[in-house]
Amino acid sequence: MSERSGDVLERVERDKERYLGELEDFLRIPSISTDPAYKAEVDRASQWLLERMRHAGLTAERIDAGGHPLVYGEWLGAPGKPTVLFYGHYDVQPVDPVDEWRHPPFEPTREGDNLVARGATDDKGQAYTHLKAVEAILQTRGTLPVNVKFVVEGEEESGGAAIDRYVTEDAGRRLACDCVVVSDSSMQGPGQPSVVYGLRGIAYMEMKVHGPDRDLHSGTYGGVVVNPLNSLARILAALKDPSTGRITVPGFYDAVRPLQDWERREIAALPFDEEAYRRDLGVAALDGERDFTPLERATVRPTLDVNGIFGGYQGGGAKTVLPAWGGAKVSMRLVPDQEPEDVGRRFVEHVQSLAPEGVRVDVQLLHGGKPILLTTDGPYFAAAMDALADTFGKRPLRVREGGSIPVVNTFSSVLGAPVLLMGFGLPDDRLHSPNEKMSIPQFYDGIRCVVRLLDRVGEIAA
Ligand code: BES
Ligand code: MN
Ligand code: MN
Repeated sequence: MSERSGDVLERVERDKERYLGELEDFLRIPSISTDPAYKAEVDRASQWLLERMRHAGLTAERIDAGGHPLVYGEWLGAPGKPTVLFYGHYDVQPVDPVDEWRHPPFEPTREGDNLVARGATDDKGQAYTHLKAVEAILQTRGTLPVNVKFVVEGEEESGGAAIDRYVTEDAGRRLACDCVVVSDSSMQGPGQPSVVYGLRGIAYMEMKVHGPDRDLHSGTYGGVVVNPLNSLARILAALKDPSTGRITVPGFYDAVRPLQDWERREIAALPFDEEAYRRDLGVAALDGERDFTPLERATVRPTLDVNGIFGGYQGGGAKTVLPAWGGAKVSMRLVPDQEPEDVGRRFVEHVQSLAPEGVRVDVQLLHGGKPILLTTDGPYFAAAMDALADTFGKRPLRVREGGSIPVVNTFSSVLGAPVLLMGFGLPDDRLHSPNEKMSIPQFYDGIRCVVRLLDRVGEIAA
């Protein structure tokens, strides 16, 4: 190999099976951050990662910022060179519905080119590419072309409060850097890399509708006492206008920055086959705002979705009951320049105004995250584009994604450094779904790509 990273890439080739085996160990730890029953497992995952960081040659420690621990590591042996901050998350989503998994979610299973397990792509597999790339360079050369810092959080999937607090309070002292690298998103397809320059934010709401002070016989009381679940259904149904697909919360769209013509053109040029998309999901039609294309609705427009409804009789068979209460969880995805607190406040007022007389509604913001648009200028972004092109054989596309990584906004505003969202996932990775997987070739290419990125960033004047 004649390319400048060739020495390290040869080592990656020799050691890649070992990397995969370590990833499997990581995936065996059920680090579900949102469920308190798994607290010890989340802790174990942080301990495992800490040890892998030390083994790779970093100085590492756990940082308690409240909530689940941050795992921090650094190697600062290249004075005068740029500093790269790697971010990832070692927590994972819950596994339900667990019956739909082909194998137990925390027994990683190789199926052809794929490794199937909860967290495989989101985000253990992707985040681990960073550490293996750094380790491979250190083992090959005894030194790195840049300084590196790692901060890996344990509660991204439940809102990321701890890291947000830490980054804000640290105010860029310990985490000071020249660029941030995040691998927690997907490419457009195998062989078509992309760099993500925008993420949606989120306002996650919970509401509870209270009616009579106890569950009632629906024959004796039905038709006269206001039913909290009927009321909940009416409120939820009123949140969107079925003819336009628009959200009815007054002022919801006020802060939405209009799309630029070039953005709409770039989105229209992205590969997207609506028919295949529907077939993959098993749905006959798509939803959303009338005046926007499906890809626009999925990435750059704000949305509102009911995530769960609860209350009343949930068991088998029929129980006649007029329930005392009912509740729902509703998330809104936000785009620049919507603010989670502002949207949350408008939502609360709107829901209160929709509440029928005879019930009481409690509604609150559970957590929020700001949307972000990142710059696509400058040498760091160019280095990411080049490293992806060298690895995957094609120039990357610039895209905005519909998901949220709350701390990215905080990194950008507090650290003042460019954030590079270079994900190695594939569109069919099933993140958050049963049978989540990571493509094994993508895992290896991700490591190669990060090696190339660091060599390129080492040539940028800090
Ligand atoms: N990795 C995802 C975010 C993501 C998904 C980015 C797809 C780009 C494309 C992340 O782990 C995630 O799931 N975030 C949550 C955040 C929420 C809990 C605040 C999300 O988007 O629902
Ligand atoms: Mn993720
Ligand atoms: Mn996720």
